[in-house]
Amino acid sequence: MNKATRKAVIAGNWKMNKTPAEAVELINAIKAEIEGKDVSGCEIVTCVPYVDLVPVMEAAKGSPIKVGAENVHFAASGAYTGEISASMLTAIGVEYVIIGHSERRQYFGETDVTVNLRTKAALEAGLKVILCVGETLEQREQGITDETVSLQTKVALLGVTEEQMKNVIIAYEPVWAIGTGKTATSDQADEVCDVIRNVVAALYSSAVAEATTIQYGGSMNAKNADELLGKVNVDGGLIGGASLKAPDFYAIISAAQK
Ligand code: PGA
Repeated sequence: MNKATRKAVIAGNWKMNKTPAEAVELINAIKAEIEGKDVSGCEIVTCVPYVDLVPVMEAAKGSPIKVGAENVHFAASGAYTGEISASMLTAIGVEYVIIGHSERRQYFGETDVTVNLRTKAALEAGLKVILCVGETLEQREQGITDETVSLQTKVALLGVTEEQMKNVIIAYEPVWAIGTGKTATSDQADEVCDVIRNVVAALYSSAVAEATTIQYGGSMNAKNADELLGKVNVDGGLIGGASLKAPDFYAIISAAQK
């Protein structure tokens, strides 16, 4: 596997944080951090609450910062109170969307099946998908990490074409590492990213697997990013807490340049 052929993607997941005014302030702070630096070694994405999308895209204009949503519904339109469709996102110029985050699975009843539906709807609309998979602590302790992430990956990608895989990033996020300060060791992250890459190879081809960006997420921060991103199968990060602080987010972006 040749890591150099894949683009690293460092994506912030702001979750339910930042009013529009605060969001613009944070984007301006990130822009100030990257100003005059060579950040061409990775793609920079910030995934933000729906109400922040337009002001964040405005603020990010002319910078390398790309913008994503944190979820999307699978229907084109209709009686789905509170939901947002893929075409609504593309209509305002959103490029990325996170799908299947463990918080959506845990608190909002999302399943592998709805994750698959959302993934297909997003890809059909032309969005780039950051597809999240990951085991709980219980599943890790039961020794079923590989089976869990393999199943999640397989179901999420049902009906996704090889061509569409160019717009799929997979984020391995062990649930026990999210927001807990408990990071997977770089070896654990590398091992499971490799498992996921093998699933993609079996579903499509080794060429597709080699071209697919697989991120690690779960308490990645300014201190541990270097080691995690140094692993052969870890092609970037999906970052929650540390993406809310411009200097920390920049430190991770800078770790991805090597
Ligand atoms: P964390 O969140 O970096 O705060 O652990 C990661 C995520 O949920 O994507």
